[in-house]
Amino acid sequence: MTSHTIKSVLQKAQAKLIEISDSPALDVELLLAFCLDKNRSYLFTWPDNTINEIQLAQFNDLIEKRLTDYPVAYLLGTKAFWTLDLLVTPDVLIPRPETELLVEIALQKIKDIKEPKILDLGTGSGAIALALASERPNAKITACDYSNKALEIAITNAEKNGLDKQIIFIESNWFSNIIENDYDLIVSNPPYIASDDPHLAQTIRHEPLQALVSDNSGMKDIENIIGNSKDYLKKGSWLMIEHGYDQKTQTLALFENFNYEETSNYQDIAQNPRLSIARKSTL
Ligand SMILES: C[S@@+](CC[C@H](N)C(=O)[O-])C[C@H]1O[C@@H](n2cnc3c(N)ncnc32)[C@H](O)[C@@H]1O
Repeated sequence: MTSHTIKSVLQKAQAKLIEISDSPALDVELLLAFCLDKNRSYLFTWPDNTINEIQLAQFNDLIEKRLTDYPVAYLLGTKAFWTLDLLVTPDVLIPRPETELLVEIALQKIKDIKEPKILDLGTGSGAIALALASERPNAKITACDYSNKALEIAITNAEKNGLDKQIIFIESNWFSNIIENDYDLIVSNPPYIASDDPHLAQTIRHEPLQALVSDNSGMKDIENIIGNSKDYLKKGSWLMIEHGYDQKTQTLALFENFNYEETSNYQDIAQNPRLSIARKSTL
């Protein structure tokens, strides 16, 4: 009988994934560690250990699914974001590392507010709301989504990370069920991809469309959020929106049109302009 060492199994699977993945080594390591119920460092420490037939069958099954471009995070059921480990299912967008930029800038802008009141629009897995809650235990956070299934995941994530006391989750079509109007900060990573964008058919076809696609070449939800947020923010408070790499000019123009002040834009690690922020007038 052939013995399957960790090293040989990883090598074989990696060779298969090269075709479809930008990170085949990482993918296979994460998937094998998951099947063995160990962390990745175990694989590097014990490369000559053998794995049993059941573990091998489970691993091969995951590799077959991955070969259909199915995301690793959905196969594992979890995704790391900020300092948290979040449950993810195909009902929610997989949180992206780029979104940590929004969390970072948000924390800077509320650092002097003792008990900041924050609204996260389109919370999905709860990534942004939970990251902010974890850093600011005194923050009072409202997180909304119009997807009931997404909210269930976000609530589970809040409980799992011990942050459920700090966040109120509301089913809301943007502002439809938001009652309070004195937020110190509104944050959103809304859908912003145009329906005819080729990426939809290629790289992100397994994620929920309602989390990704917006009308008006991807700008409809951004416009809605910028136009309405003013009625929900305290004077002088910040609105922060993550958007596509090519939507900076339009987003900043919308901020100007709706009379926001101190507009600025931030680039992600790949130097793409992905976050625009502005302040409601103090007058
Ligand atoms: C790009 S995902 C962002 C998820 C999460 N905030 C993150 O950064 O990973 C956009 C989210 O907005 C939600 N959404 C889309 N349209 C909405 C609407 N009209 N009202 C409320 N939420 C909406 C989607 O269900 C999805 O969870």
